[in-house]
Amino acid sequence: MRPRDRLRIAMQKSGRLTEPALELLKRCGLTFRQSRDKLFCFGEGEPVDLLLVRDDDIPGLIAQGVCELGIVGRNVLDEFRVTTGRDSEPLAELRPLGFGRCRLSIAVPQEFDYSEPAQLSGRRIATSYPGLLGAWLREHGVEAGVVTLAGSVEIAPKLGTADAICDLVQSGGTLVANQLREVDVLLESEAVLAGPQALPADERGDLIELLLKRLDGVIQVRE
Ligand code: PRP
Ligand code: ZN
Ligand code: MG
Repeated sequence: MRPRDRLRIAMQKSGRLTEPALELLKRCGLTFRQSRDKLFCFGEGEPVDLLLVRDDDIPGLIAQGVCELGIVGRNVLDEFRVTTGRDSEPLAELRPLGFGRCRLSIAVPQEFDYSEPAQLSGRRIATSYPGLLGAWLREHGVEAGVVTLAGSVEIAPKLGTADAICDLVQSGGTLVANQLREVDVLLESEAVLAGPQALPADERGDLIELLLKRLDGVIQVRE
């Protein structure tokens, strides 16, 4: 593939990270000719374009070289890193961004008297993060069944398809509404800027360094 001379940043098309991510890019001096339905937004000032995609697709797009940077939850980035082998381009968390804070946690039904991971042995746990959950279970020497669901994970105990869940908790509202209790935290997450481990050795690499500098300024001002 011929190297591009414009930089591409991928971010979530619609969801909790969308508004704060756009706001952050604006404060870094990036503006886009935008219509909400356009999934490719042309950058007006700097030669930086925006891709609006599913958050789960962002690490793969960077690994394939379709885009150079992505704004994505650490949970999604780390899940990609634990599930892809060494043959894929290694990705780095270039900066934590300070918004979209949440936790990847184990939660159980109210009547489950949980005090330690060992109690999950032989149980079924529903999650959208089989890689991160699998690593955590191995680390604790627990053998459990992992039931992978793409969403609405909190419904699984009620349906009898799982004894516990491992999912994101932000306000805790979804857990309460489904009579579940958070009992262990696997990962503290927030939005991060993800990119390749090694920056491209052309103008795009210089552009990334410029953006990182601006980003550090914006984040410092906000703190
Ligand atoms: C996310 C997450 C939890 C919920 C946590 O789901 O998977 O279910 O939000 O937020 P809370 O603690 O503030 O309730 P989302 O709404 O993104 O839907 P999905 O699980 O179907 O992707
Ligand atoms: Zn998602
Ligand atoms: Mg959910």
